[in-house]
This record gives sequence, structure tokens and C-alpha cells, in this order.
Amino acid sequence: MNILRIDSSVRTENSKTRELTDFFFNELGKYVRFSLVHQEVGLRPPPIPNDDFVKANYTLPAQRTDRMNGVLETSDKLIDELLNADRIVLASPMYNFSIPASLKAYIDNIVRVGRTFSLEENGNMSGLLGGKKVLIITARGTMSYRKDGALASFDFQENYLKALFEFLGVTDIRFVHTEAQDFGTEELKHKNFGLAREELKDLASVW
Ligand SMILES: Cc1cc2nc3c(=O)[nH]c(=O)nc-3n(C[C@H](O)[C@H](O)[C@H](O)COP(=O)(O)O)c2cc1C
Repeated sequence: MNILRIDSSVRTENSKTRELTDFFFNELGKYVRFSLVHQEVGLRPPPIPNDDFVKANYTLPAQRTDRMNGVLETSDKLIDELLNADRIVLASPMYNFSIPASLKAYIDNIVRVGRTFSLEENGNMSGLLGGKKVLIITARGTMSYRKDGALASFDFQENYLKALFEFLGVTDIRFVHTEAQDFGTEELKHKNFGLAREELKDLASVW
């Protein structure tokens, strides 16, 4: 089994998402064998698509110049990795109610017509990542983003990532959140972190 791990925290130490994701892989290793490809998009963000990228991307593959192919090289490599993965583990901190800019740059590189989704003449689109499983591990500084919580309507992280992977054809999407990691009491922080670890431990045995 091939797994693609994507980390998107900009922290180089004490990253909660990275710690939980390390923990999950450690647990998963007790049950299955897998090979791992690791993208550190938080520490090494892919380039933000620019005008050259859009022109190259909107040119049919057979008509692209060498220069255009060069412009799309990083994106193509990231997509190849994604398509090659049976499963994807995405570690996403919440930044300003949504995802880190580096993760958005990654997404802008991998969502491409003809590669990760198809577009028919009538405008119908369908995702090409069907059959893959996606696990998304998040950390938030405060709490109350869960259903019926006071900040539920501010959650543009889970809603966005869920919609995005569904658009790409994924039906098996799991989220494990840990909240109150910056601004809760020490007790609450530890309790929430522990709950996320328990959830990940259970998931590893069945995922
Ligand atoms: C730029 C930035 C924006 C943030 N915005 C939010 C936010 O909108 N809501 C929230 O609950 N926490 C927010 N936080 C806190 C992070 O979600 C929290 O520190 C989390 O632990 C980050 O994951 P990490 O530990 O893996 O880096 C923000 C942190 C940063 C650095």
C-alpha cells in the first residue's frame, strides 16, 4: 500500500498536527505494511500558480510547448505522487478559520482538468481520485468549531477540505480534530490532544 503524507504546519517544533500524524503512522505500522511519500508543504511550499501556469494548464497537452511543460513540472510531479497513492494522510492546522496558505498553494497545483478531475463537453465534472482513502488530522488554537458549537459557522477548514476531496472523487474521508491547543487551559489542551490520539489509535487498527 502506498501512502502520501502531507504536512502543512509552518512550525518546525511543537506542531500538534505533525505530532498526531507521527503517532498515527506509528500505530498504523502495527497493522499494515506501507510505503510512504512525504510532502512537507508547510516547510517547503510549492509555487503559487501564476499566469504562465494558467496558460500552460489551459493549453491541451498535445499543444504545449517545452516551456509550458517545464512550467507544469512541479504540478505534474505532485499529481503523479497523489495518483500513485492508495491513501492520503493530510495534516492541516487551522489558520484564520481555514487552511494554511502553503496547503492552498499545494491544492492549486494538484487540482487540474484531465489529471485529477475530468470535464465533459456538457460541463459535467467528475473527480479522478475515486477509490482512495483520505484521513485529515487537524489542530485548532481555540475550540467550538464542531457541529452546533459557537464557532461552527467559522469552520472553513473541514467544510472546504471535505468538499474539495469529494469534488476529486474521494468518498472515504475521515477527520480527526484536536481543538483548544493554544488558548485552552493546560488541562483542556491535554484532554483534547489525548482524545485525538485515542481516536487515531482506534482508527489505525481498522483503516
Ligand atoms: C497564522 C495562524 C492563524 C491561526 N488561525 C487560527 C484560527 O483561525 N482558529 C484557531 O482556532 N486557531 C488558529 N490558529 C492556531 C493553530 O490552529 C494552532 O496553533 C494549531 O496547533 C496549529 O497546528 P500545528 O501545531 O500543527 O502548527 C492559528 C495559528 C496561526 C499560526
